[in-house]
Amino acid sequence: MLPFSKIAVLGGRGMLGTELCCQLAARGVTVTAYDLPEFDICNESQLADAVGDADAVVNCAAYTNVDGAEAQPNVAEAVNAGAMTALGELAARAHTHVIHVSTDFVFNGASDRPYNEDDDPSPLSVYGKTKLRGERAVLGADCPAAVVRVQWTFGQAGNNFITKFLERVAGGGDLLMVDDQHGAPTWTHDVSHALIELLEQQTTGLYHFAASGYTTRYSVAEHILDVLGLKRNLAPCRTADFPAAAERPLNSRFDCTKIDSILTRPRPAWKDSLTTFLEELKDNGRIPAPT
Ligand SMILES: NC(=O)c1ccc[n+]([C@@H]2O[C@H](COP(=O)([O-])OP(=O)(O)OC[C@H]3O[C@@H](n4cnc5c(N)ncnc54)[C@H](OP(=O)(O)O)[C@@H]3O)[C@@H](O)[C@H]2O)c1
Repeated sequence: MLPFSKIAVLGGRGMLGTELCCQLAARGVTVTAYDLPEFDICNESQLADAVGDADAVVNCAAYTNVDGAEAQPNVAEAVNAGAMTALGELAARAHTHVIHVSTDFVFNGASDRPYNEDDDPSPLSVYGKTKLRGERAVLGADCPAAVVRVQWTFGQAGNNFITKFLERVAGGGDLLMVDDQHGAPTWTHDVSHALIELLEQQTTGLYHFAASGYTTRYSVAEHILDVLGLKRNLAPCRTADFPAAAERPLNSRFDCTKIDSILTRPRPAWKDSLTTFLEELKDNGRIPAPT
């Protein structure tokens, strides 16, 4: 049973926000999605209205273009960090509960084991640095707040590395996928379920959430081809073979022991969730046809 009756989801039409709004609405609470263009999280009066009209706020809004942030650090800073300071202050004044979503990109990926919440962040990119400042602003505010770091997310709404790979598959030809990035592809359906449990328990603090099991991007691609029964030449490559504007962590594995101790439903295995997601795409005619 949710202890909140009016929940504001900032970034409510993004990939995660869309799924979260659907699941919250199914629970019978009044949920309002706030998003660009009519809502700008950097506009303090619009943010104040959103916070003032809710008894809990989940922030899924972010500047998520990791490479774009290198060229637009001020925009990334304003959305991912500056607006979080404002959100924390507004929520503190109104005693509003906040859940803020963050990222594995706060780590540099150099560790040889999964990251837990006590590990020191050391982001490699502008995106990661701004997200870390945002986390700290929310957790440092005088309001009940939880920050949930997620990773490698995919969902029905919006583009993600799974749908981008499917487009490349449809394009024909040989495929390359990096085999040196380690993590767990995580379905927004499962993230939303966990966020709602945290709301139910009015949990505060910092948490890592990912699907259970670890893999590489290359193995994810193999699994996709396997589930869809597609034969393609797929070869492994290294992240360094394709330099991008922003550096990515190679180890994104999360230790989820802390959140496991409070969730009532075990975290689903990445393969099971990805298979269900692909079957849904297939049923909805959303697997791009081969060209
Ligand atoms: N996707 C991943 O693999 C991944 C991994 C780790 C963590 N995360 C985190 O998960 C959370 C949700 O991200 P997502 O995957 O759902 O990404 P998303 O689809 O890009 O959603 C972000 C939403 O925020 C909106 N937004 C951007 N600037 C805004 C502003 N100034 N005011 C109001 N809304 C604004 C975006 O609108 P526009 O689309 O119009 O810009 C979009 O609807 C973020 O905190 C992200 O950092 C994502």
